[in-house]
Amino acid sequence: MDIILIGAPGAGKGTQAEKLSQLFGIRHVASGDLFHKAFEEQTELGLKARMYVDLGELVPDEMTIPLALRHIEEPESTHGVVLDGFPRTLAQALALDAELQQLNRQIDLVISLKVSHGELLRRLAGRVFCRANAHVYHVELHPPIVAGVCDLDGSQLYQRSDDTGEAVRRRLVYFFYEANQIVGHYKKQNKLREVDGNQSIDQVQAMILSEINDYLGRK
Ligand code: AP5
Ligand code: MG
Repeated sequence: MDIILIGAPGAGKGTQAEKLSQLFGIRHVASGDLFHKAFEEQTELGLKARMYVDLGELVPDEMTIPLALRHIEEPESTHGVVLDGFPRTLAQALALDAELQQLNRQIDLVISLKVSHGELLRRLAGRVFCRANAHVYHVELHPPIVAGVCDLDGSQLYQRSDDTGEAVRRRLVYFFYEANQIVGHYKKQNKLREVDGNQSIDQVQAMILSEINDYLGRK
């Protein structure tokens, strides 16, 4: 199964993608996390992408498309992927469709998480990640058992450099511009499902699973 999660910064894409990945045994591919890993490893791509990410701007398609497609081609993605943050432009969506077609696959479902502006700001302001595996927490809404330490792997938690100040505003502005293109593309293919992402993490997960089960039931 190949699924895309669409949603504004802070909508809960990473949180829900991680759960779907575990539940269905499909790989979680998050373009933003791939860029962050590339900075940490100080690769050439990571250093170039960092300028865009820190400003809250989109990384150019020439850098983003090959990176994401490479991960989809890897053996760990054979059983399917849950894509989080990719595609974000029409060019990315078209490249993804072509790639999956080559692999004799296609996107099954596109889940769009709708969350109010105030809630997005609250979630981004308190979000922290673990250094080892980018597991995500929120200092109030989804705190770790021991403050500052990941429950799952014991690594330190940190705040993302683009989760403060002007970068947050820019990311939100970019999202509403991008989303129109992508949503229209998948609506035409009758693959888009909207889910109310304002609810609790478990409630949102239940709604996503209900959409997936409905889709599988009809297939
Ligand atoms: P990316 O990493 O994709 O960031 P984003 O889209 O801004 O989304 P976020 O990761 O901020 O939010 P999320 O929806 O994953 O929320 P989360 O689950 O963490 O991209 C970063 C940057 O990389 C971009 O700005 C761009 O520069 C570049 N980039 C990436 N992809 C690109 C592409 N395709 N093309 C070009 N450039 C690209 O949840 C947020 C917080 O809320 C967490 O603390 C969580 O614990 C909490 N939470 C989640 N759900 C709930 C809930 N239901 N109730 C309460 N709390 C919740
Ligand atoms: Mg994310």
